[in-house]
Amino acid sequence: MADAETVSFPQNRTCPYHPPAGYRDTRQGRHPVAPARLFDGRTVWLVTGHAEARALLADQRLSSNRENPEFPFFAERLAATALRRVELLGVDDPEHNTQRRMLIPRFTVRRTAALRPRIQEIVDGLLDAMVTKGPPADLVDAFALPVPSMVICALLGVPYEDHLFFEAQSRKLLRGPASSDVEAAREALDAYFRELIARKRATPGDGLLDELIADQLETGTLDEEQLVRLAEILLVAGHETTANMISLGTFTLLRHPDQLARLRTSKDLVPSAVEELLRFLSIADGISRVAVQDIEVAGVTIRAGDGVILSTSTSNRDESVYPSPDELDLGRNARNHVAFGFGIHQCLGQNLARAEMEIALPALFDRLPGLRLAVPAEEVPFKPGDTIQGLFELPVTW
Ligand code: HEM
Repeated sequence: MADAETVSFPQNRTCPYHPPAGYRDTRQGRHPVAPARLFDGRTVWLVTGHAEARALLADQRLSSNRENPEFPFFAERLAATALRRVELLGVDDPEHNTQRRMLIPRFTVRRTAALRPRIQEIVDGLLDAMVTKGPPADLVDAFALPVPSMVICALLGVPYEDHLFFEAQSRKLLRGPASSDVEAAREALDAYFRELIARKRATPGDGLLDELIADQLETGTLDEEQLVRLAEILLVAGHETTANMISLGTFTLLRHPDQLARLRTSKDLVPSAVEELLRFLSIADGISRVAVQDIEVAGVTIRAGDGVILSTSTSNRDESVYPSPDELDLGRNARNHVAFGFGIHQCLGQNLARAEMEIALPALFDRLPGLRLAVPAEEVPFKPGDTIQGLFELPVTW
């Protein structure tokens, strides 16, 4: 096998729903694990093959621990926060397993199904407000962001009145622009949750946070700082990601009218359509790990201390798994995609995210049958490659 060229990571997409062309040079089975260069000149391994991504995500010789000095970050602003402990997402087994088990009961298929009427109510309320106000609208602001934001607030027991505050902090946490913004956002969220936890201890409610206070904090299995950091992960992961899926999913469907027509005429298609959009858009593109032992994979040796980045977008376009991978086909079987990751850290909120998308997308197109872009598609601003992929705004009319 010829040596793979070293590509840079991350790269910006040139189309909001296709992986950057630069990552593709290394995929197609030729170099499913290839060297890539980060912003600081460090060389890491970029994984673009589907089988290799799943094998490595399930391999406990790779660690998620951000406190490891070799852990690879995508951007300077994120590297500046290295060595800060991240609960759950940044913890390896066996500790990870303990934390995950505290949360799993709230995220089962059954518990999520019980939330569907509430999600439907939220979606209908937001669509009512859009209709009352009339076109045009920014779909991100009017719909795609408030749906998951309201849902995660209800689930956690966080007051939605505070949404402008925590949405702004999440934006800074994920996109900076400077490392000082990331630090300031963390501190603001820390302070917010410390205060909320104190209020809840005095007057308990019925959210997940209240349960964690009663079952884990009061019994000493979690300390307050751990609970604060856990709450932050759940809040940020719970709304930023799904908001991007709803807005970018809508944009993508509007750009594929044949597929949108299929979705409108067959409600049975909704679950597979959501799965295909997850595969096709792969908005969480770049899962980081650091090797703690040597690993032989796809003809290369990943050494202990090497950084590994798994590109979900290219792994999900691997043609040995998905024929004509660059085509959006809402009827295909897209299960087994790695858009939610794989292995012990596979997205805890995936059932919730699916329920939100399965309710929000069909309701949007049913309620606003004339929905269309209000500006040329090329003018819709989308996010750079070093963060969760999606749209900054989506100007629509109907
Ligand atoms: C479509 C929307 C979403 C996408 C694409 C997504 C993607 C991901 C990915 C790729 C991971 C794995 C990260 C890794 O292995 O390092 C992950 C983990 C996680 N996600 Fe999501 N996510 C979504 C929605 C949600 C929602 C709604 C929640 C709700 C709370 C959530 C909570 C989490 C948590 C807590 C983890 C860490 C799990 C662990 O470390 O055990 N996500 N997500």
